[in-house]
Amino acid sequence: MTSIRRIGVNTGGGDAPGLNAVIRAVVRSAENLGWEIYGIRDSYDGLFEKDGVVRLDRKAVRGITHQGGTILGTTNRGNPMKWPVREADGSIRHEDRAQAVVDAIADHGIEALVAIGGDGSLEIAHHLSTKGLKVVGVPKTIDNDLAATSRTFGFMTAVETATDAIGKLHSTAEAHERVMVVELMGRHAGWISLFAGVAGTADVILIPEIPYSMDAVCEKIEQRWASGREFAIVVAAEGAYPEGGEPLFMAGSKRLGGIAKTVADEIHERTGRETRELVLGHLQRGGSPIAYDRLLALRFGCAAVDLIQKGEFGTMVALDPPTVHGVPLEDAIAHRKTVPLDSDVIRTARALGTCLGD
Ligand code: F6P
Repeated sequence: MTSIRRIGVNTGGGDAPGLNAVIRAVVRSAENLGWEIYGIRDSYDGLFEKDGVVRLDRKAVRGITHQGGTILGTTNRGNPMKWPVREADGSIRHEDRAQAVVDAIADHGIEALVAIGGDGSLEIAHHLSTKGLKVVGVPKTIDNDLAATSRTFGFMTAVETATDAIGKLHSTAEAHERVMVVELMGRHAGWISLFAGVAGTADVILIPEIPYSMDAVCEKIEQRWASGREFAIVVAAEGAYPEGGEPLFMAGSKRLGGIAKTVADEIHERTGRETRELVLGHLQRGGSPIAYDRLLALRFGCAAVDLIQKGEFGTMVALDPPTVHGVPLEDAIAHRKTVPLDSDVIRTARALGTCLGD
């Protein structure tokens, strides 16, 4: 058992529905142990800013379980491992400020940290733990692509939002006899597209794990028309790419984007069918977490405090149904969890006649 009495909590990387539920669970369960809890604003930025570290008590986290976003703010810029420093000649040099972060946390009297984040934030947490920080990670990402946990919170809410959108597209697609192509998030993994695509009964689902062939996609579209169903729904993960090709990035940016338009244009060119495309974008990260994610987030938050109490640092809470337990942070960041090609949801899609682009 630990002698720790003052802990910190922060949220890093892109937001995901359920962050506030984790914060509430951390605060309430730690308060019940008689500890003090401090929130660090905007990932680690708050450590170096006036009023950037705030005391969190029961009152501060009242009524936030159902709220999207994060009361602490977040950022996916300013990685302390690659801190940009402007040189006299105007050039930018990157330095590792990890030790400064660890020292600043100690200066604030924080003895252990609950770091809530995705792959980037957990990599930072792991690095900070090698510098002596007592840290426990909580896995967050709507992409569900973190190894060592069967689910991240936020994922099922994103699937719900995307499934709802696909459902709504059916009626307008049918009314106009069109092909609707919807682009969903998922940089390197097709979890959201696969789950929402199957649940929303899309005709074609394109994911990064299966490079697609336009011949296969257009054949499926033509089959729809031939069978008298004169509309089609195509779901494409933002990271999907054609056989022999590469993922698409927005012009002059490191952000993925453009797959829906490319696929829609090509379907129109090859089949002559009227097509429309849309990008669901950050809608998938917004809004209130669904019950599944609220519960998972609350379980994760309480489990993180439990790990601190047991002195199990350098770990991450993970869902391994039916339990939540701690795994080494290095296992969590060792590799990305993509969709296994033999997974039952892939097999379900194929059995239902859904085209996966191959
Ligand atoms: O990692 C989650 C994610 O939602 C990705 O699917 C997406 O590519 C990315 O974040 C977008 O992040 P942002 O627009 O915040 O940089």
